[in-house]
Formats: sequence, C-alpha cells, structure tokens
Amino acid sequence: MVRQKLLIFITTTFILTAVSTVGIAAVDKNKYPYDPSLLQWEKSSAEFTEPETCGECHPQQYEEWRGSMHSLAFQDPIYQGELNLAIEAVGHGVSKQCEGCHTAAAVVTGEVNGAGLKDLSPMAMAGVSCDVCHSVKGHTHWETPTHQPENGSLILSPGTDIDGETVLTKFGPYAGDEDCGDGFHACIESPLHTKTELCASCHQVTHYEEHTPLEMTYSEWKNSPYAAQDINCQDCHMVELETFIRSADTFQKPTRDEYHHYFNGANFLMYALTEMAAKKAGDDELAASANQKYAMAVGRLQAAATLDIEPIYRSGKLVEVKVRVNNKRAGHYLPTSLTNIRQMWLEVTATDASGKVIMSSGHIGPKGKLPAETRLFNSDGMGDNMHFAIDPWEIISFSKHDTIPPKGYREVHYGISSENNQPIRLQVKLRFRQANQKIAEKLLSHVPDDMHLDAIYGIKQVPPVPIVDMVDTTITINPEEQ
Ligand code: HEC
Ligand code: HEC
Ligand code: HEC
Ligand code: HEC
Ligand code: HEC
Repeated sequence: MVRQKLLIFITTTFILTAVSTVGIAAVDKNKYPYDPSLLQWEKSSAEFTEPETCGECHPQQYEEWRGSMHSLAFQDPIYQGELNLAIEAVGHGVSKQCEGCHTAAAVVTGEVNGAGLKDLSPMAMAGVSCDVCHSVKGHTHWETPTHQPENGSLILSPGTDIDGETVLTKFGPYAGDEDCGDGFHACIESPLHTKTELCASCHQVTHYEEHTPLEMTYSEWKNSPYAAQDINCQDCHMVELETFIRSADTFQKPTRDEYHHYFNGANFLMYALTEMAAKKAGDDELAASANQKYAMAVGRLQAAATLDIEPIYRSGKLVEVKVRVNNKRAGHYLPTSLTNIRQMWLEVTATDASGKVIMSSGHIGPKGKLPAETRLFNSDGMGDNMHFAIDPWEIISFSKHDTIPPKGYREVHYGISSENNQPIRLQVKLRFRQANQKIAEKLLSHVPDDMHLDAIYGIKQVPPVPIVDMVDTTITINPEEQ
C-alpha cells in the first residue's frame, strides 16, 4: 500500500516537472550569443554611428528623437536603479537582457556591462538611438524560445564590407536612389520599418530564463481591431496628438509626411525630470523639447479612456452606481507594459446636498499610499513560490490581470444610497501615475554611485510622484428613480 502511494507520488512529480520544462526549448547560444538578450549582430567592419552625426543631415528627426523616451532609455534613473537591483539579486548575467533593449548597440559591441554611466561613449548613452532602429535588417521572431517576438529578437547590421570597403547601410521606409545618403550611407528599402514588427522585439519582455510573459504589448496589439485594420504602433506613437486620435477613431493611416520621431507614450514623469535636468545644464532647446513631450504624453493619456456612469435603482431607490472604463484609443491593453508597477485607478467621491461625503474610494493617503479597497487596473505578479512579486527576474506568472483590452471596457460597482432623499453629487476620476511612492523611492535610492540625482536633476529627496487625471467628471444623481 505504502509502496503504491510512493509510486503515485513519484509519477505525479515526474509529470509536473516534465510539464514545466517541456514547453520552452533552451536558448541556442550559438544562435543567440548575447543571451539572455536575443539580439543578433551581422558583424562587419562597419561601426555604429552616434545620433549627433546622423543629426547633421537629419536635423528634424534628431530634434524630435532627442528627449524622447528612446533617447532616455539607458540614462533613465528608474531603469538604472532597477538594473542595479537586478544585478544584486540574481548576478551580472541578467544585465545583458535589460541592455539588449535599453541600449542595444552597446551590447553587441561589448561596451556596456552593468549599471552606471561612467566613461561610456555617446553611442552607449544614446539608448534606443537612430542607428539601433535603422540598422535593423530583420528579426527572428518565430525562431525564439516562445516563437514570438521577445527580449530584443532583432538582427542588427549597420553596414557591410564590399570589395574591402566599408559601406554603411541604413534601412528605412523609402526606395532610395543611388545618391540617397549623400555618400555617407546606402539606403535600403525596408517594409519592416512601416510595421509593428519593428517595435515588437523590444516591446515584448519575457522572463530572462523561463521565457514566461512579462510585458506583452505586441501580442495585445496583434489580437486587437487595430492589427486587423493595419493600424501599427507607428500610426499612434510617431505622429502628432490629433493624428493619433484620427488613427484610433477612424483606422485611417497617416500619410508619409505625418510621421515624426516622437515615440511619445505615457511617461510624463520622465519628461518632467528631463526638463529639470536640461534647465540645470542650461540646455534650453532640450528643456523646451521635454516640455512639449510632457504635454503630448499627458494628452495621450487624456485621450486614451472615457467613463460611462450609470445609477442603479432597486425598488425605485438608488443602491449603487456602475462606472464603466472604456479603453477608447490605446492600441493595446490600458495600461500596457510594467502593469504591475504603473497605477491607473478610479477615485470616487459622493457628497450630499450639505457637502457631506457619503461615499469615497481611491483617495491618496499619507505617504502617497492608496487604500486597500482602491479599484486599480493593473496586474499582480507572482514568483515561483506563489508569493507576490514585483521584479521582472522574480515574476513567472500573474495572479491578477485587470488591465483593459483595446476598444474594450471594465466595470466597477460602488454601493451608494441617500439617507435624506437629496440629490447626490458624484465625482469620478480616472488617475494615472508611473509607480507608487514606495517603489519610486526604492528605485531612485538604488541608482549607481556615479549618478547623483542632485547634480543631474537638482533633487535632494524624492518628491511626491505626480499624478495625471485622465478623466475627471462630476454628475448629479437622483436618490430615486425618475
Ligand atoms: C524586451 C525589451 C526589454 C527588456 C529585455 C527589458 N526592458 Fe525595461 N523596458 C522596456 C520597454 C519597452 C519599457 C517601456 C515600458 C513603458 O513605458 O511602460 C521599459 C521600461 C523599463 C522601466 C521603467 C522606466 C520608467 O522610467 O518608468 C524599468 C525600471 C526597466 N524597464 C528596467 C528593466 C530592467 C532592470 C530589465 C532587465 C531585468 C529590463 N528593463 C529589461 C523594454 C525592455
Ligand atoms: C525606434 C526606432 C527608430 C529610431 C530610434 C529612429 N528612427 Fe528613424 N524611422 C523609424 C521608422 C519606423 C521610420 C518610418 C516612419 C514611416 O513609416 O514613415 C523612420 C523614418 C526615418 C527617416 C525617413 C524619413 C522620415 O522621417 O520618415 C529618416 C531620415 C530617419 N528615420 C532618421 C532617423 C534619425 C536621424 C534618427 C535618430 C535621431 C532616427 N531616425 C531614430 C524608426 C526609428
Ligand atoms: C551626410 C549626410 C547624411 C548623414 C550623416 C546621414 N544621412 Fe541618412 N540620408 C541622407 C540623405 C541625403 C538621405 C535621402 C533622403 C532624405 O533626404 O531624407 C538619407 C536617407 C536616410 C533614410 C531613409 C532611407 C530609406 O530608404 O527610407 C534613413 C532611414 C536614414 N537616412 C538614416 C540615417 C541614420 C540612422 C544616420 C546616422 C547613422 C544617417 N542617416 C546619417 C543623408 C545623410
Ligand atoms: C531596441 C529596442 C526598441 C525598439 C526597436 C523600439 N523600442 Fe520603444 N522603447 C524601448 C525602451 C527600452 C523603452 C523604455 C525606455 C524607458 O522607459 O526607460 C521604449 C519606450 C517607448 C515608448 C514610450 C513609453 C512611455 O511610457 O512613454 C514608446 C511610445 C515606444 N517606445 C514606441 C516604440 C515604437 C512605436 C517602436 C517601433 C517604431 C519602438 N518603440 C521600437 C525599446 C525599443
Ligand atoms: C490606436 C493607437 C495606439 C496604437 C496602435 C498603439 N498605441 Fe501605445 N499607447 C496609445 C495610447 C493612447 C497610450 C497612452 C495610454 C496608455 O498608457 O496605455 C499608449 C501607451 C503606450 C506605452 C506606455 C505604456 C503604458 O500603457 O503606460 C507604450 C510602451 C506603448 N504605448 C507602446 C506601443 C507599441 C509597442 C505599440 C505597437 C505594438 C503601440 N503602443 C500601439 C495608443 C496606441
């Protein structure tokens, strides 16, 4: 009897281990030498070119890109703090995974290896620079361990050797003629550059060893009506605010001359910091650009969602209100990546005729804390011990995913009643911040030693994390059904 039980136990354990290892094939290190980044480099004598050089002939693209999240991807203090924590927690091996997306060229050249900005070339500092995107020759999306775009699965080829001569090759949307590139580079027409698949390799993050999904912006988009209508990442993030709204509402594609190098999303906090740093350094142009990008990010957030509010009566009496949050214009879930860190939530306040608060939810408390009952639209990560986890090297699954699908919605019900039969004033806000106060403080206190937040940004201690109101509506509701 005992033996039988043991046998069953052994078989069960065997099956469980088999299931957990069968799904994902090990990474082939010959194919992916920068593992855990899945970048590839077609090596030649051609070097990567820093953005300032490209900017000499392409000043407009340069000005638009400078101060964008792509230009900040490596110097971002929140990133540097998290990278430091990652290395402390699981060792140096993990850093290539991060750098493969946050400063790809400097990974393949071997220049960068860990946190810190000291003694790095402008190329490494430039993050997702011109020559990262315009050296993309192709991708290996369907050959990765997950058979999907993930962890930087791009092929970089900044140039080739022809008859002993180095020729720089830049891939772009046009069929360039012989002179295209003014003798500095050859132009190669690349349909990939007008497609979401260019962005996919970096906007899809999986666990560095397990390859379980962490941030799936590409897949979210792929399964949306936008993909079906050929509205790509570029059509919302490489255009002006009004153009993005048109793309989202009408599925009409922008014309070629409507594209800009803004790569503008939601990260208003980083633009605010960049403006502070630029002012401190006396760089008025960058300060103005960061200020403009801040306004654009706030604008994108404020255009992303709408609210529908409906009072619900039972036997003629008000019993609750239903708040529906619609993802009107984000081409992926709202919010999309870092959904366990980003915070989007409802703040609700109901007051009676005398101004007394009769119901409230989601109000920021002391130290920037949100009360436990707050309705957040985010995710909760889980480590392999089934416990709550925050960091990407720990998370292998999610215990909750409450983000809102593209063109979809989520509903929240709030119990409410009127004691004195008076009309009720109801204010509902949809609010957004990059992280809660505790996480922001933790990450910023872990920036590498060569990054002095006071010297760069002029901050001595972390100020309250700013909040943007995506929607703010007030309505009056009747205590009784009319
Ligand atoms: C597959 C590409 C990819 C990999 C790998 C990757 N990241 Fe990122 N990371 C991104 C993208 C894209 C964003 C922007 C997401 C957003 O804004 O919501 C981002 C954002 C971040 C942010 C938020 C920055 C801010 O200003 O709020 C941090 C922190 C970060 N990454 C740290 C890391 C660390 C540490 C690693 C390695 C353990 C890593 N990333 C690996 C692509 C990647
Ligand atoms: C994140 C990737 C990415 C980065 C970084 C990037 N580009 Fe582009 N670039 C694109 C895409 C995508 C297009 C095509 C847009 C379209 O469909 O017209 C493009 C188009 C272009 C074009 C063709 C003309 C135009 O504007 O459409 C030029 C020139 C160019 N980029 C130069 C640059 C320079 C210079 C930089 C750095 C300052 C840069 N790019 C950074 C992705 C990128
Ligand atoms: C000496 C001037 C010069 C420099 C430096 C230069 N370019 Fe160009 N590039 C041109 C010209 C001229 C064109 C033709 C089209 C145009 O005027 O935008 C062009 C076209 C392009 C295109 C469009 C190609 C296509 O097929 O769609 C891209 C992309 C591009 N450049 C990227 C870059 C990048 C990235 C760098 C830096 C690594 C760079 N260029 C540096 C002059 C230059
Ligand atoms: C080589 C990797 C890479 C490629 C390719 C890439 N991105 Fe990114 N992107 C990043 C990283 C890394 C960040 C985040 C930087 C940070 O938060 O510090 C980012 C940030 C962004 C943001 C800002 C997000 C925010 O919170 O404001 C937008 C928008 C964006 N990317 C759009 C695009 C689009 C559109 C494309 C394709 C044309 C693209 N990206 C291609 C790596 C990449
Ligand atoms: C129909 C328009 C649209 C398309 C298509 C679209 N986005 Fe977005 N994106 C938005 C809006 C609006 C926001 C701001 C609201 C938000 O944060 O989701 C946003 C935010 C983001 C952010 C900031 C993260 C966040 O949610 O806080 C990233 C990163 C991003 N998009 C990347 C992408 C990538 C990569 C693609 C292509 C796979 C893409 N987007 C396609 C509209 C779009």
